[in-house]
Amino acid sequence: MNPFDTFPPKSLPESWLTTPERSVSAEEQMLLQHLSKAEELTRRRSRTKLERYQPFQRQIDFHAGGAEHRERLLTAGNQCGKTTCGAAEATMHLTGRYPPRWPGKRFDKPVRGWVGSDGYLAVRDAAQRLLVGPPEDESAWGTGFIPGDDIADWKRASGAVPNLLDHVTVRHHRNAGSDDAPVWVPDGISVLGFKSYDQGRAKWQGATLDFVWFDEEPPEDVYIEGLTRTNATGGIVWITMTPLQGMTALLQSFYDECGDGS
Ligand SMILES: Nc1ncnc2c1ncn2[C@@H]1O[C@H](COP(=O)(O)OP(=O)(O)O)[C@@H](O)[C@H]1O
Ligand SMILES: [Mg+2]
Repeated sequence: MNPFDTFPPKSLPESWLTTPERSVSAEEQMLLQHLSKAEELTRRRSRTKLERYQPFQRQIDFHAGGAEHRERLLTAGNQCGKTTCGAAEATMHLTGRYPPRWPGKRFDKPVRGWVGSDGYLAVRDAAQRLLVGPPEDESAWGTGFIPGDDIADWKRASGAVPNLLDHVTVRHHRNAGSDDAPVWVPDGISVLGFKSYDQGRAKWQGATLDFVWFDEEPPEDVYIEGLTRTNATGGIVWITMTPLQGMTALLQSFYDECGDGS
């Protein structure tokens, strides 16, 4: 029967309605497998950035200073790698995953630390971005320096700044192998809190901490509070900053101590 004898046609043979699916050739199947492996590899690499951190000489010197000094200052112009250096160092302490021949301070247990900056937006868009991933895209959290699989949990901050974290909890490891053939054994949870200098000195009181990282220059009273938080643990503090306010008392105290502020 011709289906067009009547209009509209009452029925059409099924074969007229569907285009048979083209079968996937063996070669195409292989390519698809490679593609999905490549995607998985890209995903894994994006979540293990710490392994590929290759510090510049200035950054190595800064890390190394932590072995001897409780207080450190890294000053440089914009886009010179200050926040990167600070984030990598914070991640080493939070995870315990020190690279072979790490020249700096080592904690041998999970740590509690804070990172602060000049406003919540600044801490979110610099330190949080580098440590956890792009703040605006939660599906990509885990692509910062803290390895994705080491992030145990996070808590968003309440308040006006969207996508700001209050803190992140991180799986800490000890190395049961050697420097060159590490065997990472989880041994507890580290915590990193995100802070702002404009919370004021009072909010910087109280906690006992292993480290405080100041990304950009803190007011002197906030710095002193942060430093005091690490007294009981013999902990460390470090500042990564571009000197925007000239020779402040805080900067002067570092220059007086070290001569060149390095
Ligand atoms: N050791 C490094 N290896 C490769 N790129 C780096 C390194 N340190 C910093 N960078 C890159 O330099 C740029 C500026 O770094 P950032 O830490 O944000 O600078 P700053 O805080 O001094 O303004 C970023 O793109 C960062 O990825
Ligand atoms: Mg910076």
